[in-house]
Amino acid sequence: MSSETTGNQVTFTFAGKSLSCRPNTTVAVALWENGIRELSHSHKYGRARGVSCARGHCTSCLMRVDGIPNVRTCHTPVQQGMVVEKQDAGAFYGPPLQKVLSIGGNLFPVGFYYKWFTQPAVLSRVFLDQIRPLTGVGRIPDLTRSTLALPSAPDVSDASNNPQIEKVESTNLGNLGCIVIGAGISGMKAACAQDDQVTLIDEHPVPGGQRASALETLAKSTSTRIERFDVLASAHKALVAAKDELVSFPNIQFRGGLKAVAGYRPNGLVLRNETHLFTATFDRLIWNAGALDSLGLFPGNDTPGVMGPRALFRLLQRDGLEVKGQRVLVIGGGMDLWLSAALLSSKGAKINLVITESGYQSEVSAAVDLGWQLTTGLELAEIQNRGSQAIEATFTPMSSTPGPAHSHMRLQADFAVICRRGKPAYDIPYQLGTKLSAQPDLGGFVARETRMGAFSGKLPGGHEIQIQGEAAGALPDQISQTTSEGELS
Ligand code: FES
Repeated sequence: MSSETTGNQVTFTFAGKSLSCRPNTTVAVALWENGIRELSHSHKYGRARGVSCARGHCTSCLMRVDGIPNVRTCHTPVQQGMVVEKQDAGAFYGPPLQKVLSIGGNLFPVGFYYKWFTQPAVLSRVFLDQIRPLTGVGRIPDLTRSTLALPSAPDVSDASNNPQIEKVESTNLGNLGCIVIGAGISGMKAACAQDDQVTLIDEHPVPGGQRASALETLAKSTSTRIERFDVLASAHKALVAAKDELVSFPNIQFRGGLKAVAGYRPNGLVLRNETHLFTATFDRLIWNAGALDSLGLFPGNDTPGVMGPRALFRLLQRDGLEVKGQRVLVIGGGMDLWLSAALLSSKGAKINLVITESGYQSEVSAAVDLGWQLTTGLELAEIQNRGSQAIEATFTPMSSTPGPAHSHMRLQADFAVICRRGKPAYDIPYQLGTKLSAQPDLGGFVARETRMGAFSGKLPGGHEIQIQGEAAGALPDQISQTTSEGELS
């Protein structure tokens, strides 16, 4: 293992090889920039997994770092001398078992390895001890008979003496009255509309939400000027106005870098920052936590190098992913398509846009002027890996497009960004007792009785809850035009 620093570079080890990267980025981005995107494998079929959410919400980037298993490498800063390893040794029977699983797919539905055999207890024990390990889940590779075993890990059984084990303190913040979760444009407007004391909470250190940093970078870009894109210019204007308005309300306390991670009934929240857990209760909760990336159902939607716009913004803005000169396929519609493409372009990437929604005339003209490749009338059929750093997307004509019945088109790129309507973030309102219903036209599950991008109701204990913005199915383009009460104008 090497632990030398070369100039302004960090040296770390992956799979026994010494690699270097720039400082101040994450392990996942350091690996990506070294040509390694495959970070783990799915349990059932052993499919390759890479960075997916870049937010700590999935399991795609779990690796063993300095001997500690299950480290989310999209959130872990790379450090000098770090030892990074893949942690999944693969299913016990390897590809043959996976082949059987794929042939008998209906007998082994998605998630069978954690949904089945939970009752009775004796079956659960058989499952945990005998069946689950077949998938490769939960095995420390060097403790198995697998020929894919990895080098020994340090003993982490005594956490109290291990400096690598994080000890998380917890603090009770008490009853905060009105809590607004999410300080995007919608959340800031909601906070400003309250007359009483408000605590506005967001996982980002400053107010603005998931797109703020991307919009602010573009507003300063001289190569990809934001005013060329009406939808982005108006979102930036709304962002600046909402931030200006926020500071004029002394009744609002902003707490940044704090993420809501759980809700407990009747009116409790668990929040965390990098080092601490906090608990708090509320009288009124205004939920503006936005939406999650949704790539849609197509073969290859889990291919490493395929991501949604929110993951892209984090990788580019937070982690500094280097994309200069790379070919990027940006596919889909809505504001996120234009924001992703413009941001990538401002950082020197070559853009190949496949637009699946009509409209956006000013944006289309700007794209043509900037020399982006533009394609319309196609829908995405499949994405495949083409080596460790390239993907190939196959498209078919949209059913409404005249043309040969079976013609299709293939486009290659370094990576792809799929921009579709996001999935409303509903987990904590649901944990608190809000009844949900599936509404595919609003992106997935939203609170029942959601109307016009907003919901207002009572939790089972009688406490008030409002759900607004993308968490209630509104589109980001619409949010720039909402009133302070959260209604779409
Ligand atoms: S948790 Fe790291 S990519 Fe999702």
